[in-house]
Amino acid sequence: LLAETGQYLSGIFKRCRLCIVSDETVYGLYGEAVSASLKSAGYDVFPFTFPPGENSKTMDTVCRLLEFLAKERFTRADAIIALGGGVPGDLAGFAASCYLRGISFAQIPTTLLSAVDSSVGGKTGVNLSSGKNLAGAFLQPSFVLCDCGILRTLPAGLLKDGVAEIIKYCVIADCDLFELMCRNSIDSLCNDNFLEHIVEKCVIIKSGIVAADEHDTGKRRLLNFGHTIGHAVEKLSGYEASHGEAVAFGMLFISRAAEELGITRARSSEEIERVLKQYDFSLSYRYPADELYEAALIDKKRYGDSITLIIPEKIGDARSVEIDIKKFKELVVRGSLQWMSE
Ligand SMILES: NC(=O)c1ccc[n+]([C@@H]2O[C@H](COP(=O)([O-])OP(=O)(O)OC[C@H]3O[C@@H](n4cnc5c(N)ncnc54)[C@H](O)[C@@H]3O)[C@@H](O)[C@H]2O)c1
Ligand SMILES: [Zn+2]
Repeated sequence: LLAETGQYLSGIFKRCRLCIVSDETVYGLYGEAVSASLKSAGYDVFPFTFPPGENSKTMDTVCRLLEFLAKERFTRADAIIALGGGVPGDLAGFAASCYLRGISFAQIPTTLLSAVDSSVGGKTGVNLSSGKNLAGAFLQPSFVLCDCGILRTLPAGLLKDGVAEIIKYCVIADCDLFELMCRNSIDSLCNDNFLEHIVEKCVIIKSGIVAADEHDTGKRRLLNFGHTIGHAVEKLSGYEASHGEAVAFGMLFISRAAEELGITRARSSEEIERVLKQYDFSLSYRYPADELYEAALIDKKRYGDSITLIIPEKIGDARSVEIDIKKFKELVVRGSLQWMSE
């Protein structure tokens, strides 16, 4: 699909200036192909790149990008193309939301995580030194082009970040997809047909949830399953833990603890554990309960003295539960005891 980017976009954006926002690694791999395709469709192309990784997802990079757009005289008729994983996607989307009070943007996700998650739903933003994703805006991309062939160059560790989100979708919304994942393994993701099928299913699930609750005040919170504890693990590990490993741990932790405390009648944690192990998640973090609790409290899903948790009802169905933070502490303590006793 990549070589046809220009053709696809010509149905979306009239001939204009397009700024390709990408990190240096991704641009080195795919930038020329995208750029050539856009030029042959009649667009003027302006690449803007930055060093790969989370450290680039800052206001500083956004400011440089905004100055670049201004210097190249981009107008509201022009647009931004995010080429890359969640970092270029979030950053480019945020710049698009504020340049001239908003211009259009499109996404070409190149990591499994961005294909199944960050390129869908219109959350854009950057990190502040006080925490991740603390500044941002909602802006839906006009177009998302996902070529699963691009994912072949992705290192195995990064593939697993996407797998954790896929298992999340299965648990909250699709028991058939869960069973399909159970019948396969990480090696199956090398099969293009399997990968495309999974990505398509996940995009349908996420877009359905986002369409029902674009601004994250209700149903969209289901997508946070495993993330409150997951973010705490990322923080406590000094961001050494990958997002996928941390979320995998978070999903199992919260499912087990909710079962133990009787918050859910589901008995899905054993199945969740089995599938996570099948996809080589180590589930090996052991942090003291009080540290885990404190780290989890900075979560964006906290409102005053209560916190919203996502708890499976059964595989394929979950609900959001608002519990006060005292109860949440009990849950983290009970959950931690289970892990420590293993
Ligand atoms: N907006 C949302 O809804 C949303 C959802 C989930 C995550 N996110 C954000 O996404 C970010 C993480 O995304 P990510 O994991 O894609 O990170 P990323 O964009 O930093 O990509 C990870 C690494 O993979 C490399 N890479 C990307 N595509 C490649 C390819 N095809 N082949 C080889 N290397 C490739 C990149 O150069 C980078 O080094 C975080 O900042 C997170 O906050 C946003
Ligand atoms: Zn996530």
